[in-house]
Formats: sequence, C-alpha cells, structure tokens
Amino acid sequence: MLKASGIYKRYGREIVLRNAGLDLNSEIKALIGINGSGKSTFLKIIAGIVQAERGEVFINGKDMTRLPPEQRNVGYVPQYPALFQHLNVEKNILYGVRKNKKASKAVYEKVVEMLALSDILRKQPRELSGGYRSRVSLARALVPQPHILLMDEPLSGMDIVVRKKMLPDFRQVLKEFQIPVLYVTHDHEESELMADSFAVMDRGEIRSVVSAAEAFEIIQNSTLQTM
Ligand SMILES: Nc1ncnc2c1ncn2[C@@H]1O[C@H](COP(=O)(O)OP(=O)(O)OP(=O)(O)O)[C@@H](O)[C@H]1O
Ligand SMILES: [Mg+2]
Repeated sequence: MLKASGIYKRYGREIVLRNAGLDLNSEIKALIGINGSGKSTFLKIIAGIVQAERGEVFINGKDMTRLPPEQRNVGYVPQYPALFQHLNVEKNILYGVRKNKKASKAVYEKVVEMLALSDILRKQPRELSGGYRSRVSLARALVPQPHILLMDEPLSGMDIVVRKKMLPDFRQVLKEFQIPVLYVTHDHEESELMADSFAVMDRGEIRSVVSAAEAFEIIQNSTLQTM
C-alpha cells in the first residue's frame, strides 16, 4: 500500500528527517514521537505538501515522489484541521469530490451516518464543537475514497473524556472502509486504543516496534541521552 524510504529533509540547518521510511499495509499504524521530532513533516511529505530532499514514496506500487498532492489519492487530516468557514458542513465534506460523483454520493451517505453527522449538515463550522469539527474533517478526508489516510493528532485539542468516546467510533469507521491509516499521536493510551501496529520517530528515523510501550521506552531513552 504505502512504502516510503530514505526520506531526508532539513529546514535551514536543522535536519528533521535523516533516513525516514515505513511500510503501511491494511492496518492502522500509530506513529509516535515527541514534539518537534518530525512526525507532521513526514506526513506532509507523504501527502505531497512538502518536498523531501531525498527519498521515495510509493503508493500501491506507483512512484508518487514527484507528483502533486491532488494526484496521490492520499487522505490527510491535518494536525489543526481548517474547515472552510464560508461553507456549511455538507459542502465541507463534499469539497474533495469531483470525479466519480455517483459512487462518492453513496460513500458520503455512509460516512455521514457512521460519524453521526446527519443533524449538523446545515451548520457552519464556527457553530461546531471541537469534537464535531474533527468528525467533519475525517469525513471530508474519507469521502473521496483515498488509497491511504494520514491522520495527524486529529484529537489533540480535546480532553481525554471526549477522545475516549470518539476513538472507538473513528476506529470502527476506518475498519469498515478497510483503509490503511497512519495515525500520528504522542499519547500512549490513544495509540493503544486506535492502532494495530506501532512505529516510533526517533532522531530522524522511523523504527517499527511491537507496542506503544516499546515506542515510549525508546523515546524516553533518546530524550535522556540528549539532555
Ligand atoms: N515550515 C517549516 N519551516 C521551518 N522549520 C519547520 C517547518 N516545519 C517544521 N519545522 C521544524 O521541523 C521540526 C519538526 O517539526 P514537525 O512539525 O514535523 O514535528 P512534530 O513531530 O509534528 O511535532 P509536534 O508533536 O509538536 O506536532 C521542528 O523543529 C520544527 O520547528
Ligand atoms: Mg506535528
């Protein structure tokens, strides 16, 4: 599904990603790492919003490294989701649908139902709570039926009570759509509730680990070494 390898990226003199890569198959994979470790940068490179200096991105066997975001068929829920303020919820969700309208309408209805959005379709984004904004943002990413979905701490602004309520809903929707997901978080509990597999961003590289606990152990050791 997704195969990224040898990604190198720096901002000015700061090397953010050294040799980052991962494989994502039919699973929800948590990508865990501390603040500033390069998780969002990695996701933006996969989505095509940011260009890496080196490295390759393959999706379903196709080389996407030099393609613009709209040709990659990657769903992306950014860390600070911005909805279109002048459009109501329905129009926000349908924003990404252009081709294949008929198929997408059915998917749209299913997504709206599964994420319990039918009562708020006529509302404006400013009228929504943070939790509903996240739901709309996820719906908008799912409706065009992307090959893979990238979620960058989509619930980071919410308290743990709301997150615990929403995570199982999100997981169920993603499993129903059978879509491979890379889910960025730095929350232990959230990663365990959400993910089937785990990876950790460690000093510019991504390592596969067997559990969230192992990821946090690696992070802790690295942080101690650099202090
Ligand atoms: N557009 C940019 N210009 C310059 N530096 C940047 C830019 N984007 C990110 N950085 C730097 O790159 C590093 C990695 O940032 P990134 O946002 O990828 O980290 P992150 O792991 O997502 O952090 P967080 O957990 O806080 O979201 C940081 O030091 C950040 O300051
Ligand atoms: Mg980030």
